[in-house]
Amino acid sequence: MEKTIDQTPSGREIPKDSSLEKLFLEELKELYGAEKHQLLVLPLLKKAASSQKLQNVLASHLDDTHEHIRRLETIFGQMGQAAEPRTSEAILGITREGETVIEGTEKGSATRDAGIIVATQLEHYEITGYGSLAQHARTLEYDEIEEILELTLYEEKEIDDLLTALAENYINTQAKQE
Ligand SMILES: [Fe+2]
Repeated sequence: MEKTIDQTPSGREIPKDSSLEKLFLEELKELYGAEKHQLLVLPLLKKAASSQKLQNVLASHLDDTHEHIRRLETIFGQMGQAAEPRTSEAILGITREGETVIEGTEKGSATRDAGIIVATQLEHYEITGYGSLAQHARTLEYDEIEEILELTLYEEKEIDDLLTALAENYINTQAKQE
């Protein structure tokens, strides 16, 4: 039987039933779900934060998130797929954990800020997710898509570094004194 051939975004022909391409699409939907979820969670975290510095980092993360969502929508478009978010149990679990940490702290305290940073652990999920997606894009020879993913990955790491530095240099020291 003749194999169905699909034109990929890179112009290369691969079998339509490629399981790696299916996996790539599934991962894309999960990351899209994670970013969309952050769009809801980040404003709440920002509101709960007491340190101005933390508020600023969360605000710029929110701006980035809008951009990351636009980029993922571009990728869905390039693949000829409808942008469809998937919210996994992992994403919901990380968010619930963050909420519990915040609820257990006093409003306006540095301890709450430390808890908020714990709640941004979704960042690690995203870093792993974008890393794996970029890898798969490379294998599938989706060059342009890989470039977009690498850019987002770089920005996610940058935000994570900022949050970690904030936790180490300021918030944890303050929280120890409370
Ligand atoms: Fe993001």
